[in-house]
Amino acid sequence: MEVINKLVTLKAHMDGSPQESDFVIKTETLSLSAVLESKDVLVKNIYVSIDPYQINRMKSLCSSQTASGSSYAAGIAPGQAIDTHGVGRVVVSGNPDFKKDDLVVGRIGWGEYSIVKEGANLDKLNPLGFPYSYHVGILGVSGFTAYAGFYEICQPKKGERVFVSAAAGSVGNIVGQYAKLFGCYVVGCAGSQEKVDLLKNKLGFDDAFNYKEETDLKAAVAKYFPDGEMLEAAVANMNQFGRVAVCGVIAEYTEKGKRAAPDMIDIVYKRITIRGFLAGDYMSQFPEFISATSDHLKTGRMHSIEDISQGLESIPSAFAGLFRGDNVGKKIVQIADE
Ligand SMILES: NC(=O)c1ccc[n+]([C@@H]2O[C@H](COP(=O)([O-])OP(=O)(O)OC[C@H]3O[C@@H](n4cnc5c(N)ncnc54)[C@H](OP(=O)(O)O)[C@@H]3O)[C@@H](O)[C@H]2O)c1
Repeated sequence: MEVINKLVTLKAHMDGSPQESDFVIKTETLSLSAVLESKDVLVKNIYVSIDPYQINRMKSLCSSQTASGSSYAAGIAPGQAIDTHGVGRVVVSGNPDFKKDDLVVGRIGWGEYSIVKEGANLDKLNPLGFPYSYHVGILGVSGFTAYAGFYEICQPKKGERVFVSAAAGSVGNIVGQYAKLFGCYVVGCAGSQEKVDLLKNKLGFDDAFNYKEETDLKAAVAKYFPDGEMLEAAVANMNQFGRVAVCGVIAEYTEKGKRAAPDMIDIVYKRITIRGFLAGDYMSQFPEFISATSDHLKTGRMHSIEDISQGLESIPSAFAGLFRGDNVGKKIVQIADE
């Protein structure tokens, strides 16, 4: 028995902003008996994550591919399957830990089907009563990045001031929600009025601004934080003893030579700590994150903001759209019915 799989692949390595035309949809035949004779699992993909960091994997060379020591950052060659986080259902399994029809979450791919090798990241999913897509977004890597960045890296104190960049994006909107629940004063910036309205009216941010209209970030930060301490800024006019958690620098991903860096003299005289991090380094806290966040969702104190496109063919535009600011909240593509 065989299945025909359609998957999205790269035409060539890319260096600037991604375009839909950088991708091609390829067809392959997968043998079910080969899966059954191995320890592999064949998964029918349902929801797949669309993430900005993937562009660093698609370049011919990027320091991220080797610096992190993580297979998740490894380079992706043209024609190769593109792995990502997602939710799917087991079709057949040679791995005794999984059986047909198990709902699973983990490292699948931008295709209709994925073969997940023994030892790769794949778990049975208990959806906990939430839509499956939440486990790609707010209860998945995005939510966990926000959780680790806010609680572990920033070590917040009640009443502190928090600035969130890309605040209407997948990670950013959740950072702001945690910070509000924690008792901080929260300001976010985003790239459109619609996003600013979402932050202020639906997610309870204390204030928000469109950085494309207020282009002097130092002036904007001074305006929205006239005094006091502040956490979590990508580049900012911070007051003393601020902490900056940096999970990504999207502008640098596509614009070689662009640097999202503050004046270093301010870092010295304001005693600012800047710390980059990868969510994967904090996995021991994943159970506590799921417990806290699902509780907030059930009681309506947090909201899941998702932007779901339909069908495998929409993956190239979904991905390119991240770099145009098309998405509001977590960008996901639904490949198959639940
Ligand atoms: N360290 C980790 O473990 C980890 C894990 C997950 C994500 N990340 C990183 O976290 C960041 C956010 O990821 P996400 O999944 O939440 O994506 P996202 O914020 O949902 O989507 C990207 C957003 O970035 C903004 N943007 C795009 N191009 C930009 C540019 N040139 N300059 C400024 N803003 C730009 C757009 O929003 P606007 O319309 O507001 O401009 C866009 O919607 C990324 O850098 C990602 O790589 C890191």
